Amino acid sequence: MTIATYDARHLIEAEHVSKSFDSAKSSESVIVLRDVSLRVQSGEMVAIVGPSGSGKSTLLYCLAGLEPVTGGAVKLFGRDVSGLRRNTLAKLRRDHVGFVFQSYNLIPSLTAAENAGLPGRLARRRGAVAAAQESLRAVGLGERDRFLPGKLSGGQQQRVAIARVLASGASLVFADEPTGALDTRTGEQVLSLLRDAAAGERSVVMVTHDLEAAARADRVLVLRDGVIHAELLSPTSDSVLDAVRAAGEEAPAA
Ligand SMILES: Nc1ncnc2c1ncn2[C@@H]1O[C@H](COP(=O)(O)OP(=O)(O)OP(=O)(O)O)[C@@H](O)[C@H]1O
Ligand SMILES: [Mg+2]
Repeated sequence: MTIATYDARHLIEAEHVSKSFDSAKSSESVIVLRDVSLRVQSGEMVAIVGPSGSGKSTLLYCLAGLEPVTGGAVKLFGRDVSGLRRNTLAKLRRDHVGFVFQSYNLIPSLTAAENAGLPGRLARRRGAVAAAQESLRAVGLGERDRFLPGKLSGGQQQRVAIARVLASGASLVFADEPTGALDTRTGEQVLSLLRDAAAGERSVVMVTHDLEAAARADRVLVLRDGVIHAELLSPTSDSVLDAVRAAGEEAPAA
């Protein structure tokens, strides 16, 4: 689908987003995000860091339109996702949003190449198969294109998931711990691909525990207890470490 005219500077606008889940144990709901407002510009790479359980994955799902927000609004390409019909949102995501899940989410019965080419094929994009092969090569898995996910290591599956997003041509790329299962060298390779992907009309929003990875972003948001605790412009690994420590130390005891 084509995107109607919007303020092209801001691919994502989140305004006063809150998110809670119904608790399995009590009638009270669990509040995971509170009053989160942020914007992501085209060409930008934004990293989200914070302690485990601080709401990073949940925030990413909400920003990608995968989870409905409880309060506030998320706009993608200038459109409030909660106001979109299911089909329209599905199309918007299919054509413009790529997501690398913390748990990879590859389809077990499809080969690496078929997994990487799936979004492009679903969107009936010409050259989807060639793009998939090329991005598999870019993540160092050109030789493994016919392997099923079950025959690949965790790190290799993660790279297939990254190849899938790169091949899809999505203008908004979300990645949840994209280097979590990778060794230093491969992690660096993948990070460079994501760094290069954030250019022109395309943005990358990445959750990471890796301070060096976060420091490669243009901007780092530190999440603590569902709130944006700090924002670092021109981050360095030292400044990210300091901010994460401050977020951890000030967190209330459980
Ligand atoms: N579907 C759900 N139902 C209920 N609670 C949930 C659900 N998803 C997440 N939560 C809760 O929300 C909180 C934040 O979870 P989230 O996965 O966003 O954290 P995170 O910052 O990504 O953590 P990690 O670094 O360990 O991946 C946790 O307390 C979690 O238990
Ligand atoms: Mg997470």
